Amino acid sequence: MSELAAQLADLQSRFAAAVAGAGDERALDAVRVDFLGRSGAVTLLRRGIGQLPAEERPTAGKEINDVVERLEAQLQDAQGALESRAFDADLSRTIDVTFPAPDAAVGTIHPIRRIIEDVCSYFERMGFAVVLGPEVEPDQYNFDALNIPADHPAREGFDSFWITDTLLLRPHTSPMQIRTMEQHAPPIAVVAPGRCYRRDAVDARHLFQFNQIEGLLVAEGIHFGHLKGALTGMCRELFGDDQQVRFRPSFFPFTEPSAEVDTTCPKCRGLGDACNMCGGSGWIELGGAGMVHPNVLRNVGYDPDVVSGWAFGFGIERLGLTRYEIDDIRRFVESDPDFLMQLH
Ligand code: DAH
Repeated sequence: MSELAAQLADLQSRFAAAVAGAGDERALDAVRVDFLGRSGAVTLLRRGIGQLPAEERPTAGKEINDVVERLEAQLQDAQGALESRAFDADLSRTIDVTFPAPDAAVGTIHPIRRIIEDVCSYFERMGFAVVLGPEVEPDQYNFDALNIPADHPAREGFDSFWITDTLLLRPHTSPMQIRTMEQHAPPIAVVAPGRCYRRDAVDARHLFQFNQIEGLLVAEGIHFGHLKGALTGMCRELFGDDQQVRFRPSFFPFTEPSAEVDTTCPKCRGLGDACNMCGGSGWIELGGAGMVHPNVLRNVGYDPDVVSGWAFGFGIERLGLTRYEIDDIRRFVESDPDFLMQLH
């Protein structure tokens, strides 16, 4: 046997023993370094080629390489065996199917959506239809037909997002009054909830995107008492049985007379004192309302001598502040499930 052949045979048997003794991937890696690493056994052999008898030298490099190939193949086999042993161990693990699983997170309806549904269901029980409309409106529906002509100062008050010279993101749900009356002859009884947009700086009481609900009742013989009755009922539904409603004179181009609507502060029950929800007045502001202006009825082809109507437009988030006794409107849109899920 040549000198190199003897050295290689010795190397292979030491290698085989080391691989057999490697019980995990870490140990196997150490074997790889010991034998095939930069200063491992094989490198030492290669360095010793110069000391071999002259006749062995020409083929020594190839013989060593052949052995290295075999060692690498053996390493790979050993690695595969370790992996499949680990896999088998994993498979034979028993699973306790009776072990309680973590609760799946179950969502709830968003509080703003809940208020919309509650108001709608109150009016639906009285025979109103719920109608939805576009969030992008022509100024015709948003302003002109609502008795706000192009040069009317009330346009300024709406601080709208304009898309073109004549199209805007609706700053209120009132255009739904026009859309509904254009499509249907009286009598009309609808509520129209939906998103509105205004160029307001965001703070504790303002969002640039918010929700309103519009109400409209038009028929023969409708008067202010009907409005008062409907809104009193709505507030009792939302806030409690002994809720009162009061009207303060106001101005809107699309109603005459117009009013701001307040309801008993649900926190202090109207007592005022040092209540931080109503500022001590005992009343909470809901929004605008009034008797539909004769010009608005005329604009949709109704005869104001035959029919009359009331309308209101309330901010849903504002109702939410009151209902949930929250002092910051932004909490509704911050998507904090822990907070939102406490509100019912
Ligand atoms: N559209 C008004 C606003 O957003 C609110 C409003 C006031 C709506 C009076 C009405 C109404 O229907 O009759 O400021």
